Amino acid sequence: MTDKRIPRVNLPPDARPDTLAVREGLPRTPWGENSEALFLTSSFVQPDAATAAARFANEEEAFIYSRFSNPTVTMMERRLAALEGTEACIGTASGMAAIMLLVMGLLKAGDHVVCSQSVFGSTIKLLQGEFGKFGVQSTFVSQTDVGEWRAAMRPETKLLFAETPSNPLTEVCDIRALAEIAHAGGALLAVDNCFCSPALQRPVEFGADLVIHSGTKYLDGQGRVMAGAICGTADVIEGKLTPVLRSAGMSLSPFNAWVVLKGLETLSIRMQAQSARALALARWLQEQPAVTRVYYPGLPSHPQHELAMAQQAGCGGAVVSFIARGDTPEEARRNAFAVIDATRICSISANLGDTKTIITHPASTSHGRLTEEQRLAAGITQGMIRVAVGLDDVEDIETDLARGLRSL
Ligand SMILES: Cc1ncc(COP(=O)(O)O)c(C=O)c1O
Repeated sequence: MTDKRIPRVNLPPDARPDTLAVREGLPRTPWGENSEALFLTSSFVQPDAATAAARFANEEEAFIYSRFSNPTVTMMERRLAALEGTEACIGTASGMAAIMLLVMGLLKAGDHVVCSQSVFGSTIKLLQGEFGKFGVQSTFVSQTDVGEWRAAMRPETKLLFAETPSNPLTEVCDIRALAEIAHAGGALLAVDNCFCSPALQRPVEFGADLVIHSGTKYLDGQGRVMAGAICGTADVIEGKLTPVLRSAGMSLSPFNAWVVLKGLETLSIRMQAQSARALALARWLQEQPAVTRVYYPGLPSHPQHELAMAQQAGCGGAVVSFIARGDTPEEARRNAFAVIDATRICSISANLGDTKTIITHPASTSHGRLTEEQRLAAGITQGMIRVAVGLDDVEDIETDLARGLRSL
């Protein structure tokens, strides 16, 4: 905490999220720019040695060096914090860098994490493999069975980590129930809000302590840059995570922050539009004879449909997964590949959150580094295809998928 703080934009205190999405940040520079400036500078010039000393000692908040902070990054952080409804936010180089910073900043050897087994594959690798080497233990539990989370708690549990909806099965976990378990055990709950973004879901409203983002996804929204962020209280963000970022350097580039900052301005309308298209596609997929199952929280057939509607502002999000038919894992994989290879519009890629619709075979790409046992525990079979619906005309996407599906 510093005595002299960097000033805020002069907005009415009751400004609503759509206004904050386009205006929260830093005050304009003396030039009066309407679009936020991009500060591509690695360091900042200090007026004199005594001021420099005060700023390095954290007695006065100021920009010093872009590994620590940068005005464009600060603008992005403030805007995202406003949208998530948290006091503070810290930008990172990628979503995985955010998770690394979270663990480095909050845990030490001997501490324990309870994590859903359905989180993004690299999150499992990072917790189990990399942090396991440093003595942080993790237990992986069912995304949806609250009893498993409770049973996994130990005296040394410091963090619960959830991702909802999950990738690629779109399983929804009950944030409020997990927050209660965490707090009863003296732990914090972190929620990876990548799939919904604050436009659809604000985990802190349900009791989560920290919100994790891969800004690479919907926050940028047009597949341009890598970025990440953690939102939470000032105590945790400024008190525990900022000092680690300053030393370890997983900092967000100002250019990438600027792209995400501008992405946040259209986040809400993109999420609404992409979610509506995803619902239409999910309904269409349900009718296809070569599709044995559709995973989409917006469908009443989804096992956590009601919970999803309550947590996600009545929207299912923009990711739909489905299983192509096949009697054996080999046949299912061949069929999934045939559907993917028959597309002419969908981008065959592993990202999501883009305006361009992306099609993925999770078992061989995003979750390819997991063992078959880990994959099956997470419900990812060889016939599964994930579609991250963009802003393409949904009828064109249906035609694109029908080409392969009708050949099976
Ligand atoms: C849910 C989720 N969290 C975190 C990440 C990691 O983000 P990044 O690729 O920006 O490191 C991803 C990436 O796909 C993801 O899907």
